[in-house]
Amino acid sequence: MLKVGIIGTGDIADLNILGYIHSQDTELVAVSDINVDRTKKKLAMWNLQSLRIYEDYKQMVDREDLDIVEILTPHDLHAPMTEYCAKAGVPGISVQKPLSNTIADCDKIIQACSEENVKLKLFENFRFYPVYLRAKKLLDQGIIGEQLNFRLKNILTGGPGGVASDDLRGWLWRIDIDRCGGGPEVYDDGQHKFSLALWLMNQSNVEKVYSWINYFTGVIDSPANILWKYPSKNPDDPPKYGSMEFTWAANLYYPSNYYGIDEFIEISGTKGIMWINQCTSGGNYVSKSPQYPPIVVYVDGEVKTYGEDLPRDWRYSFINSTEHFIEVMKTGRGEPIYTGEQGKALCIFAKMPYISDQRGEIVYWEEMTAKNEEKGFCAVEKSEDADPSGLHRFTRRKSRDLKNGIKQGLKCIDFEYK
Ligand SMILES: NC(=O)c1ccc[n+]([C@@H]2O[C@H](COP(=O)([O-])OP(=O)(O)OC[C@H]3O[C@@H](n4cnc5c(N)ncnc54)[C@H](O)[C@@H]3O)[C@@H](O)[C@H]2O)c1
Repeated sequence: MLKVGIIGTGDIADLNILGYIHSQDTELVAVSDINVDRTKKKLAMWNLQSLRIYEDYKQMVDREDLDIVEILTPHDLHAPMTEYCAKAGVPGISVQKPLSNTIADCDKIIQACSEENVKLKLFENFRFYPVYLRAKKLLDQGIIGEQLNFRLKNILTGGPGGVASDDLRGWLWRIDIDRCGGGPEVYDDGQHKFSLALWLMNQSNVEKVYSWINYFTGVIDSPANILWKYPSKNPDDPPKYGSMEFTWAANLYYPSNYYGIDEFIEISGTKGIMWINQCTSGGNYVSKSPQYPPIVVYVDGEVKTYGEDLPRDWRYSFINSTEHFIEVMKTGRGEPIYTGEQGKALCIFAKMPYISDQRGEIVYWEEMTAKNEEKGFCAVEKSEDADPSGLHRFTRRKSRDLKNGIKQGLKCIDFEYK
């Protein structure tokens, strides 16, 4: 049995533990969090009261002979925690995305794990969502020919969502650019979306990025519009581009079992077009409508749908991702998905839109290095356009719109969480 310890029992821990709870190959033995009272409540909720609790993660790592550590903490803690676990001899370390808040710290993590022969996993779960796995299989079979263009629409809604902090904890570190590494939308949540933009298009990086990011509330990096070009692998390859759009519709009623966010993808190919509908909020009202099957493909004058047999529940992306890592650790075969280098590539991609917006020009992949970051040349800064009174004005307008809507008969339908 592989012994597992968890650092950070915040919101995402509820989903990260799922793959271990029913595993025949692992045993959850201990957790660590600076908030012991909240952690006790979490263990009771998970029905795992027998786990040992450590306030100091170093003590947990030193005392428990762990085979796997899950790091589920704010981004600026990923590097010091990973380095400590690697040096203490933990053979398998899974770090929730992003790998870190800076490119320099991504390098430190990769080096420490390589020196200590650690299997390092960057935990990016969308890559394991059943609908995306099916879409990728169809793409690899050449269903739409060669992929030419990738487009992703990301919408942040008014929810209600099932994953909610009991306090502002999760927001405070996310809106601090130094701790988060960027903003809560494009850098934090964006990691998943940039992962899809590379994986579904068979790419490991992009050539250049251009973007606009509007910090109209002063704290959230949305709306944002991002464009990029993929590198040409062969001289006769057709040019390949991608784009992503982050919209914030704060009062939009859009129930989700998790976060009030959803994703819609369109991929154009040489033979056809593929649409992939929903991920984070899969299973809600939209999934139940006939207009939004999980995968739609137009090819040769025909439209076909796929994936109706699959579970449309985001939790499976977590379970599948964890099961894959357990298999790698158990057999010693293969590499985690993603590796440290792939995790670093996601950090770079997700930082490029900010640098482009800061400079008002195109940013090239080769510019995104730890050295340039240190010189301040490609370091994400607080947006100059951020309006400190924006949040106040936005909140007032949002409440006024909601009140008017209710007066005009807007219904708030109850949504049952499963
Ligand atoms: N895969 C996804 O879809 C997804 C979704 C949300 C968050 N995340 C990632 O998960 C990680 C955690 O996010 P979250 O939303 O759970 O944040 P959170 O704020 O809810 O939880 C973080 C936890 O870390 C604990 N912590 C802080 N300092 C600590 C320390 N020194 N030692 C031990 N514990 C410490 C906090 O007390 C808190 O319980 C981040 O990397 C985030 O980007 C991933």
